[in-house]
Amino acid sequence: MADDKENKKIGLKTTLDMVVEGCRLPVKMSILPNEEEEWPLAEILSRKEEKGKLEFYVHYIDFNKRLDEWVLPDRLRVEELQFPKKDQKTPQKQNSSAANSRPTTPDRELQLSKKLSLPEQSSPAAKLGGQGQTPQSQTKSNAGRKRKAIFLDEDSQDAPATPQPSAPPQQPRQTGSMSSSHDENIITRIKNMETIELGKYRIKPWYFSPYPPELTTISIVYICEFCLKYVKSRKCLERHRTKCTLRHPPGNEIYRKSTISFFEIDGRKNKMYSQNLCLLAKLFLDHKTLYYDTDPFLFYVMTEYDIKGFHIVGFFSKEKESTEDYNVACILTLPPYQRKGYGKLLIEFSYELSKFEGKTGSPEKPLSDLGLLSYRSYWSQTILEILVNLKPENGERPQITINEICELTSIRKEDVISTLQHLNLINYYKGQYIITLSQESIDTHNRAMAKRKIRIDAKCLHWTPKDWAKRGKW
Ligand code: ACO
Ligand code: ZN
Repeated sequence: MADDKENKKIGLKTTLDMVVEGCRLPVKMSILPNEEEEWPLAEILSRKEEKGKLEFYVHYIDFNKRLDEWVLPDRLRVEELQFPKKDQKTPQKQNSSAANSRPTTPDRELQLSKKLSLPEQSSPAAKLGGQGQTPQSQTKSNAGRKRKAIFLDEDSQDAPATPQPSAPPQQPRQTGSMSSSHDENIITRIKNMETIELGKYRIKPWYFSPYPPELTTISIVYICEFCLKYVKSRKCLERHRTKCTLRHPPGNEIYRKSTISFFEIDGRKNKMYSQNLCLLAKLFLDHKTLYYDTDPFLFYVMTEYDIKGFHIVGFFSKEKESTEDYNVACILTLPPYQRKGYGKLLIEFSYELSKFEGKTGSPEKPLSDLGLLSYRSYWSQTILEILVNLKPENGERPQITINEICELTSIRKEDVISTLQHLNLINYYKGQYIITLSQESIDTHNRAMAKRKIRIDAKCLHWTPKDWAKRGKW
């Protein structure tokens, strides 16, 4: 009996030795997307042994990378181990776009998002507001200015420690199954920060962000919620707070209604803040490469006010000049504030700016899975709001053109059309396209709008657009 147990142990040990990077096997997921997928297929991205404790870093095939995690051997179904095939490539799920990313929640809505047709996809690495650009988009970028990575002096008082374009040394990968050059780097595929503390919240990061390596070995990184400087202990944060007088983001407060404010921050004038914001954002944004030249961007930070100050809720970045007429480069609601309508508020604000500019705009592609859901929802509600309120003229059916919808909303034509198609509202009738609204879709819309409590009030926006092309300088 004892011998049998011993043999099993040896057998198990041998099998675990065979579980190396690139292998695939069913792994028990900690967050269960749904009952039957308790043991989805996962790929081993890394393994480590610390103090005799063996752990594996796994990526669940077909699921967004934010669910990747370190697991103990008891969560591996080793008897179903698949060895890496020579030409096996991990499909670029989470990496590329919403269309090929799987849900992280049981929401049916999010599951359905898989089936949504995507707006056109452009650069594989999009900008994070001072962040990633592909070489192509660099050359296309307006003003022809080259984006450069800048490295800051680690010792300078408020500078972030030298940002790490590459990351801490890790064991070299033995087998390869990554396909995209962007995602080739095994280091940037593994989350490097355990927890951050920002104001009153402790937050678990979703993705890799190039914070300095010395911060990746500690369990909690403390971030000043007002200037976004990061430090390694609570003590350091307290010391910092005695010197840091900020109670709101830097820049101009251009909007205030009730407790919600928006601050406009120039990536050139407030470099340190903008870089710290990008580092923070990268923790929750995949497929964005971090660049350190924030000069070409403006950052719109949304805050919620209480007696302690203006607390950051989320932000979006925007190129000062965009040849593609993007009105958002990157958008983020910090996790503690997500799913409360703030994402749509940020989006609404971005279109309000476009209305002030007298232009249509669109978010930079590719969108993330959650980004697509939020934009789809915003576009649908905004367009339906217009259609539902159309008044019949001279007893005739109300009429509106796609261009008029674009002018009223600042939503780009392609996005209006794809939304109408997605909502299944366009019909071809007697030689022309007409929009048919059923009473059911009107009722659904009205119910959704009743839930949308916080809205942007254009009267509270005090802002004049700048013509950056004319200024000759960002
Ligand atoms: N599961 C299901 N539905 C979701 C989820 C989720 N996890 N998150 C948002 N939604 C849906 C909501 O139900 C809502 O739709 P509805 O009103 O029709 O029900 C819609 O998306 C928007 O919800 P909000 O509460 O307004 O959005 P939120 O504050 O959660 O922010 C955002 C959305 C910004 C995309 C957020 O999820 C985030 O920051 N994600 C990480 C970063 C990211 O992916 N950003 C977008 C990248 S693309 C780009 O930058 C251009
Ligand atoms: Zn500070």
